[in-house]
Amino acid sequence: MKHTHRISLTVNGRPVETEVEDRLHLADFLRRELKLTGTHLGCEHGVCGACTVLVDGRAVRSCLMLAVQARGSDVTTVEGLAAEDGTLSPLQEAFREHHALQCGFCTPGMLTSLTAFLRDNPAPTDREVREAISGNICRCTGYQPIVAAALAATGDEAIEGEN
Ligand code: FES
Ligand code: FES
Repeated sequence: MKHTHRISLTVNGRPVETEVEDRLHLADFLRRELKLTGTHLGCEHGVCGACTVLVDGRAVRSCLMLAVQARGSDVTTVEGLAAEDGTLSPLQEAFREHHALQCGFCTPGMLTSLTAFLRDNPAPTDREVREAISGNICRCTGYQPIVAAALAATGDEAIEGEN
């Protein structure tokens, strides 16, 4: 027997009120119910970071959180990082300039993780950026351009060749 709950929350600045099944995780809620498919699902058990979204400003793995647990929260997905008129955030712009994505599968999680990290650490070191994305797996880039983009978004530049 399915149990449902009525929840209200804010997603990318818009109020959402709906009924959700108790076992529906936040990632599936965002992707299936709200059609916000920018949030990707890789491992579905908290390892890859592809599903990372911001919940009340904190980077959260949406495959490990139930939709009902987001009741009353303010959720931001990758679709909510750019301005209303489509202007990219400085971090998104830096990703574009530094070619910090190839297939793009990890990119929403990288962007949301780094958005929260850079808000709290506006002048990080190369090493701190690497630690911040250590829970986000990228199969394509070798991470170097992602780190370069994150540092560029702070006005700093990556130390060439540092791993
Ligand atoms: S899909 Fe959530 S951490 Fe991999
Ligand atoms: S760009 Fe392909 S997984 Fe990171």
